Amino acid sequence: MPTARTLKRPELIADNPDEHLAAFARDVAAGLTAHPKCLSCCYFYDHQGSLLFEEICQLEEYYLTRAEREILLARAAEIAALFPGEIALVELGSGSATKTRILIEAFLRQRGALRYVPVDISRTMLEESTLALRDEYPELEIVAVAAEYTQGLRHLAAESARPKLVLWLGSNIGNFDRPEAARFLRQVRETMAPCDRLLVGVDLRKEAVVLERAYDDARGVTAQFNLNLLARINREMGGHFDLAMFRHRALYDEEMGRVEMYLDSLVDQQVRIDRLGLEVSFAAGEPIHTENSYKYSGEEIQALARSAGVRIERQWFDGARRFSVNLLAPE
Ligand code: AVI
Repeated sequence: MPTARTLKRPELIADNPDEHLAAFARDVAAGLTAHPKCLSCCYFYDHQGSLLFEEICQLEEYYLTRAEREILLARAAEIAALFPGEIALVELGSGSATKTRILIEAFLRQRGALRYVPVDISRTMLEESTLALRDEYPELEIVAVAAEYTQGLRHLAAESARPKLVLWLGSNIGNFDRPEAARFLRQVRETMAPCDRLLVGVDLRKEAVVLERAYDDARGVTAQFNLNLLARINREMGGHFDLAMFRHRALYDEEMGRVEMYLDSLVDQQVRIDRLGLEVSFAAGEPIHTENSYKYSGEEIQALARSAGVRIERQWFDGARRFSVNLLAPE
């Protein structure tokens, strides 16, 4: 077995960072001049934001990670056994790949080798996680893709040399609105051969108090995560946001079946953003809508699968039925 020192660096394919910055600038200018104001949650994940999200995943209140982990621990061997030959694991939004290790180990135990293709928007997180995986699992072939989901789809289509299992875990699907989620699943489905499968973690509808605690924890980590969006505008765009003048708020809208996150301005204020040549006015109490996190019922998961052209081959829940993991096959 090679030692860590003789191991190859994982291959890294990266988007053009200038394009990413230009898109961020365009979206910030459009979102902060819109009525009501909004910022896209896809910009949470710079290095600082990715670290804060990892911290959220450890929180007592944020049950999603533990519930999904419980399911994967119980089902990993069964999932790996569904794929008899060589396989590529392609993961959308891999982050630190903590839960993925459960599946990687199950596949390596049964197969001895595996190709792993993580796709994540945070290049630094991707570099850190793939270097750690390389050291832990020398027999793992890794090709990391630093890209947004839509660009990630191109790499999905290219992974056709062997059957693939596409992972979309952590209820990342919840940050798309319902029609967008169906559209994106359909695009993923179009990259799949009949033998390919898609494993999707979906958070379930539940009582408002549990959901609001999960998105507004007692230690204020989620508040910091949300406020990091303004800190990021300060760092990357010469913004002058005083973070103490904004407050994090999370609210469950039962009818929409979604948790909404906001940053509310505490006072009347003007904020300059030098690199955008923009001055934004806020009234006291005025919100910036920063995230939606959709929750699904069993019927809503069925409807989603139908409209994306996939069928639910297996569906698993954690013991407390808070979360689901769905194995989807092309229809
Ligand atoms: C990444 N995503 C699935 C998380 C969620 O639960 O919607 C992001 C998050 N926002 C606040 N806490 C976690």
